[in-house]
Amino acid sequence: MTIKWDARFSVNNAIIDAEHKLLLTTINGLEMALRHPEDKEPLLFFIDQLYEYSIEHFRHEEALQLQYFFPFRDENKQGHDELEIEITRIRTDIHAILKKDNLLPEDIATLREHSAFLAKGWLMKHILTEDLKMKGFMGSDEVA
Ligand SMILES: [Fe+2]
Repeated sequence: MTIKWDARFSVNNAIIDAEHKLLLTTINGLEMALRHPEDKEPLLFFIDQLYEYSIEHFRHEEALQLQYFFPFRDENKQGHDELEIEITRIRTDIHAILKKDNLLPEDIATLREHSAFLAKGWLMKHILTEDLKMKGFMGSDEVA
């Protein structure tokens, strides 16, 4: 299911919002690629991009939180560390599955579970519960 960006995702900081939009687009790309799991290249591309963007985003968000004295930055960092472990594990698993010559129905089911988990459990949880606490702390929503 494609996730569309809407105002409830906004933390009122244009840079963080832009990065969250990019993460969302990348997850949607992964979901689209899963419609044709026999075509492995787009799947590898999107999981690798999602991994790289996520790590980069977490470090960038942590630096901005420090800059704006965001009071919940320790717990947000802890959330990032846990998410980093999860996405690393899922990426490794997806790579291992895609090394097989022929994907079995259970392999495709596992790929879909990983993708759904990343979209709903992971990104939505990150943005809608942990990151929304930044609203009001992170300066203006204008790009400097
Ligand atoms: Fe974030």
